[in-house]
Parts: sequence; structure tokens; C-alpha cells
Amino acid sequence: MNPLNVLMAASEVVPFAKTGGLADVVGVLPKALHDLGHDIRVVMPRYYGVDKINYQLTPLEGSLAVPMGTMGTVWAEVYAGKLPNSDVPIYLIEYDDYFGRSGLYDDKGSGYEDNDLRFVFFSHAVMALAKKIAFHPDVIHVNDWHTAAIPALLNTTYAYDPDFAYTGSMLTLHNLQHQGHCGTGIMDILGIGWEHLSEFEQWGGVNLLKGGMIHADKVTTVSAKYAQEIRTPAFGCGLESVVNGCAFKLHGILNGVDYEEWSPAVDRLIPHRFDVEDMSGKAICKAQLQQKFGLPQDTNVPLVGFVGRLAHQKGIALIASAIHRLLAMEIQIVMLGAGEPWAETFFTTIAQSYPHKLGVMIGYDNRVSHQIEAGSDLFLMPSLFEPCGLNQIYSLRYGTLPIVRATGGLDDTIENYHNDSLHGNGFKFNDATEDALVNTLGWAVHTWFNDPSGFATLQRNAMRQRFDWNVAAQGYERLYYEIVAGRKG
Ligand code: ADP
Ligand code: GLC
Repeated sequence: MNPLNVLMAASEVVPFAKTGGLADVVGVLPKALHDLGHDIRVVMPRYYGVDKINYQLTPLEGSLAVPMGTMGTVWAEVYAGKLPNSDVPIYLIEYDDYFGRSGLYDDKGSGYEDNDLRFVFFSHAVMALAKKIAFHPDVIHVNDWHTAAIPALLNTTYAYDPDFAYTGSMLTLHNLQHQGHCGTGIMDILGIGWEHLSEFEQWGGVNLLKGGMIHADKVTTVSAKYAQEIRTPAFGCGLESVVNGCAFKLHGILNGVDYEEWSPAVDRLIPHRFDVEDMSGKAICKAQLQQKFGLPQDTNVPLVGFVGRLAHQKGIALIASAIHRLLAMEIQIVMLGAGEPWAETFFTTIAQSYPHKLGVMIGYDNRVSHQIEAGSDLFLMPSLFEPCGLNQIYSLRYGTLPIVRATGGLDDTIENYHNDSLHGNGFKFNDATEDALVNTLGWAVHTWFNDPSGFATLQRNAMRQRFDWNVAAQGYERLYYEIVAGRKG
């Protein structure tokens, strides 16, 4: 098979800018595709916080003319560099009116009002960039609503452009909850003609993600289970009928893990390294974590970690309502997260009432997130929905057994402990109820205290599993070839 030209566009990419797992994925998947022999290039916005000197980003000669429909042409700058430790080119679109801000999507929780304009601009810029650098993509791979306008641009404005002859598109859904709802006026900025409104129309406005799903050659989700779930009203976030209409081109490909970043044997952010053969370093990590969160350095109590956005999706309301019952157990809990203001206040306040049992850190801290993965015995992730979820997969590698709700990628990656056969890699429950959460955590804690050899077997099972990006990349590669064949056919 011929190597392909792939242009991947996303709103966040590790290590340049990150609010969640999307950045982890787009920072690593391109490297795995590059290793398969493809010419893959990445595009993202140049946010204010992206340090050009630190990342050795150099300006491309000449400005980029970005057509913004009835707003006319906007001139942007482009900076080029490489994804760290790779030969994968990354281009950052600089336009300070839209991206020279402290946040990616919001300022302290309230979303920027012009997010639709910002990301339609970025979508136009991606197309303009491909022409400027004379990169003729076989596939443009876009991610979530921010870049979902691109498949429509490709099929309309650029339909007969020789630079995009046979170019196809893939849209990966990392989270269907965010869809890019905006007013219909955005059609003037998209500039594809109002006759295309129906492809984007929802509830009297425009839904950018809907248009992306309709126009993309393939739609993927980041786990197989989520691809099924979003066909139902409970998970479809109002787009379930569109998802069902896309069933013929919908696929689930499970995310992988960058084991150079997330592996206790090589992790430079944890106080002591360890691996499945020698777990002694994990005890040191646990003691350090307890100290960091101001908890007693007690080896005889299981430590439960939580890292994540404090968002409804992550089951934080469930944890909040169960917190007193959870803390009535003989456990310690450490939490790192930022998000909904009520949750930040609630967990900080509760921690003051349980100074020996609960430690809470509000904010975003990559180092501490690694230390929680390494030092905890159990990892709590009771999400209401979870397209893939990366933290539970990271936890496996560190022998930190996940306690999860059976949804999306959590269900696809975590297998319940069977104490007879000693199979499994964690603890899982179905119902999104306080009782189910308390009982399952209770079961995990009971196992830790009363069945240490079973617990150790589970840890070994978990640490030996691999979720390699190479496997996921082959899944994407297969679909890219189908897209190319479809366009040429
Ligand atoms: P989502 O993308 O829905 O937030 P994932 O589990 O896919 O969930 O990915 C979350 C990523 O963001 C992980 O790499 C996790 O470590 C990181 N993360 C989330 N919250 C924080 C935080 N407060 N500090 C540091 N890292 C965080
Ligand atoms: C989203 C999802 C998360 C997934 C991540 C990366 O943010 O919420 O489940 O792991 O994207 O695909």
C-alpha cells in the first residue's frame, strides 16, 4: 500500500496545549502513524500560552490568507515545529484576536462567546495552510466540534480544487457532549452557501458537529462501546438520529497510551520508579503522595486516587453525594481536578472536615497527576459516560486498580475481578447510583485488606496489559485506505 499524506487538525495537542485527553491523543497518534510510514502533519491554534522559543517554533514565510466568508480575508501567521522526539511536523496558526488569550475555550469556566468564530476561523485556516505548504492530503483527520467544519469545506468550497483532488475526511468524536452550537449567522462565515444549512441545522441554530458527521467520509469514536452508546438517546446528546444515520461509516477505535510518558519504570515525574518485577518503589510513591496531600503516612490503609476534570461527565455528583459513606471506610482519598465551581468548593470544604482522610488539590498539575497514578492503590473513575478515558488505562500500568462505571471506554478496558479464576484488572459497576459506587469501592477496599494476594495478582494482570498506539494507528490506517478507495472509486 502507498504511504498516505494525512493532515490532522485539533484544538489541543500535547505538550503545547492541553485540557484533557484529546491533547494526549493528538500528541501521540501522529507519531504512531508516522512510524507506519505515512507523511502525517498536525495543525493546531497558537494559543497565548504556547512558548515559541521553548518549542523551537519558527515562522513560515509570508502571512496566511484565511477566507472568513462575508467577514472577508483575515491574515494569520503560521509557526512550524516538530512534535517532540519525532519528525512529525506541527503547524500552529497564530491570530491573537482569537487565540491570544489565557484559556483555550474559556476564562475561568465561562466559555468565550466567540468560540464558534474562533474555530470556524481555525477550520478555514487549516485548508488555507494545506495549500500554502503545498501538502496534498489524502485524508484530513479532524477531531471534535472545533474542526468539524472542515469536512463540509472540503465537500463544498474545495470540491473542485485540484489541490484537494480525491482528498477525503475523517471525524473522530472524542466527546459528543460538546457540539459547537451557534446561531445560523455562522453560515455567512463558513461561506459554503445557505443551501447547506440543513446539514448543520438543529433546533433553529447551527450545530457544527452535526455538519461534520454528515460530511465526513468516516466517523470514529475512541472506543467501540461508545460507538454503540451514542446511537441511543441516553448518550447521543440530541444527535442520536444523526449518529444512526452515520452507522454505515461509524467505527470505534480504542485509544492507546504513550508508555514513554506513562510507565512507572521510566516516569521522571514520580519519586521512585518501579515495575511489575519489583514493586518496592510504589510504597515510596505512596508515602510521598500522602505527605504531599497532608495525610498520615500510613502503609496500612488503602489510598484511592482521583484525577480529572471536575465535570458532570466524570461522576463528580455521585462522589459528592457518597462522600461521607466513602470516608466512613478505612481509606484515604486524594483528588486532583479543576472545573465546576460548586465541585471545587465542595471537595475543598469536605477535605477540611476529614484532614486525615481526604486531600484535595484544585488546579491542573501534570506532575501531581503522575504521582497520583503511581502512589495510589486504587483509582476512582465513576463516569456517567466516558468516550474512552485515559486515566484508568494509565492506572493499570502503575498497578493502581481502577474502580469504574461500566460505560464507554471504561467498560472496554476494565474487567471485573473474579476471585475464583483470579482474572480481571479492576472493579466495575453498572448503575450510576450512590449505592453501587459505595459497594464497589467497599469491595475493592475489602479485597485490599483481606485478600492481599488476590489484590497483588490483579495488579500484575493490570501492569502486564498493553494498550499500544501502534494497534490503534493500524485501525486508523485501515480506515484511511478505505476513505481513499472510496474517493477514487
Ligand atoms: P477527558 O479527556 O474527558 O478529560 P481522559 O481520561 O481521556 O478524560 O484524559 C484526561 C487527561 O487529562 C489525562 O491525561 C489526565 O491526567 C489529565 N488531567 C485531567 N485533569 C487534570 C488535572 N487537574 N491536572 C493534571 N492533569 C489532568
Ligand atoms: C475526551 C473524552 C475521553 C477520551 C478523550 C481522548 O475528552 O472525554 O473519554 O479519553 O477525549 O479521546
